[in-house]
Amino acid sequence: MKNPEPRKKLNSYEPFIYPIGKTIKLSSLTNSNPVDLNFLDVMYSRRSKRDHEIPTLDEISEVLYHSCRIMEIDTDESGILLTKRMTPSGGSRHPIDILISFPEKNREISLYNPLSHSSSLLKIETNKKNSFLNKICENLDINNSCLVWFSIQIEKCSSKYINPSSIYWKDLGALLYCIQLFTNYFGLKSCPLGTLAQSEFSTLFNTAKLTSGGGMIIGK
Ligand SMILES: Cc1cc2nc3c(=O)[nH]c(=O)nc-3n(C[C@H](O)[C@H](O)[C@H](O)COP(=O)(O)O)c2cc1C
Repeated sequence: MKNPEPRKKLNSYEPFIYPIGKTIKLSSLTNSNPVDLNFLDVMYSRRSKRDHEIPTLDEISEVLYHSCRIMEIDTDESGILLTKRMTPSGGSRHPIDILISFPEKNREISLYNPLSHSSSLLKIETNKKNSFLNKICENLDINNSCLVWFSIQIEKCSSKYINPSSIYWKDLGALLYCIQLFTNYFGLKSCPLGTLAQSEFSTLFNTAKLTSGGGMIIGK
């Protein structure tokens, strides 16, 4: 992997705009019924757990609220929005969008909006969505789990860095670990997924602006 070099002059970029449908506001109860763990308990008891019972949407919302929500906004010298969240991100770009798929008979995939703490249904052809979800099931059973998928907006990083890939992969590790710690804090179970399902993911949106960052599952 090549060394990332900050550009002398930032490039402008257009983010990929997802095809969204109905949007719902997510609940943002803070510390609703957390397991009574202190900071070191949370850190030392973190383990990847794969056998899940179906979580509630409120439980997943709470994890996302703390681990992924935007807490501060700013702009850089080219006018691009920079955000501050629970995790660090190279150049404050936060290039990783969160997709979630809740366990139900005909699973949908939604986009998490970290500014409004809402989720928007994604308009994806059923056969493409199913082949993506089936590919992930080859890796781990996700039937009782909420799937969290990382969709990387490459140009958010490449507009600031030449050779940006190490930046977004480091961002992704930080984000994944942060989400896992919050699942642990809230008494939920989670497991990262090794698969990228890259070719199935690329058919979902048909754009070179996104690449698959893999995902994780969360359950009870
Ligand atoms: C990048 C990454 C990918 C992983 N992929 C999988 C996977 O595909 N299937 C799985 O069962 N566990 C997966 N895991 C979980 C690891 O197996 C787990 O982290 C490891 O066994 C250490 O256990 P611990 O997380 O409980 O400390 C992955 C973990 C990471 C960090």
